Amino acid sequence: EGLHSLFVASGKLFFGTATETNNFGDSAYQVIVNNKNEFGMFVPENSQKWGPIEPTEGDFQFESPDSIVNRAEGNGQMFRCHALTWHSQLPAFVENGTWTRETLTSAIQTHIATVMGHYKGQCYSWDVVNEALNDNGTFRDSVFFRVLGTDFLPISFKAAEAADPTAKLYYNDFNLETIRNKTDAAVRIVELIRAAGARIDGLGFQAHFRVGGTPSQASLVATMNRFVDMGLEVALSELDIAHNSLPADSRALAQQSTDYVAAVGACLAVPKCVGITLWQFTDKYSWIPSTFPGAGDACLFSANFTKKPAYTAVKNLL
Ligand code: XIL
Repeated sequence: EGLHSLFVASGKLFFGTATETNNFGDSAYQVIVNNKNEFGMFVPENSQKWGPIEPTEGDFQFESPDSIVNRAEGNGQMFRCHALTWHSQLPAFVENGTWTRETLTSAIQTHIATVMGHYKGQCYSWDVVNEALNDNGTFRDSVFFRVLGTDFLPISFKAAEAADPTAKLYYNDFNLETIRNKTDAAVRIVELIRAAGARIDGLGFQAHFRVGGTPSQASLVATMNRFVDMGLEVALSELDIAHNSLPADSRALAQQSTDYVAAVGACLAVPKCVGITLWQFTDKYSWIPSTFPGAGDACLFSANFTKKPAYTAVKNLL
């Protein structure tokens, strides 16, 4: 038994993890990640993003995500796909291009048709648009918003629906769990996608939390239910809970356990919360220390692959 098999027994679809091909050579890591009872779903941490997958226009690099999806399928695991229209990790030709409405619309459509077409039938879901909002609920400045206004959202979702009708189409963002103005704005995003005649199936809560700063289970449930009430499914799409300073003492480790239990418990309590993805499962490969210097140890497994107190707490909950 592991986190995924126990989560599935509770009626959920997946408990998975982000992973990447540069982790493939680490045998201790591989023993854990290939155990489908522990992790029943993979998402590529970087290699499906626009920059890595289409570094120059029309030049598609599918090798890394292909090897991740092949491994998932070989292990009997699900595959979740990430991300299509996002302001970050863009190739220079998109970021610095001289675009008109027509040419950028066509570039988005071609990118989505080609990438989603390549993985057609293999992705449980796609993060179609990622992080379109600022924390105050206004639209984030990006090449997409500057050229197309909010039309980049329905343009992306319509292209996605056409490219792979079987994939669930998600809007994915962070801090929706904690900042009311941002949650309200995400509700309006769902409405504007639908008003334009496009389909959206799910809302991904990244769930990048801090130890001691994680919302309560009740608060998370209430936030997820705002989107469930609109007919969407929801997921915790990138869960990690970072210590603000290191090393973590026993009190901090206990708080991390409490926080992980709140997050996992919230998904358990919402029938339409279909699953949870960890943004890496070991502190050895977490993105946190390089992005937020001083913070870290955000994962359920330590850097040497021992199970942390939070792992045990989550397992006991399931
Ligand atoms: C992060 C990766 O983990 C890092 O390796 C990379 O350098 C930057 O991106 N929100 C997202 C993810 O949607 O794609 C980000 O992943 C983390 C924040």
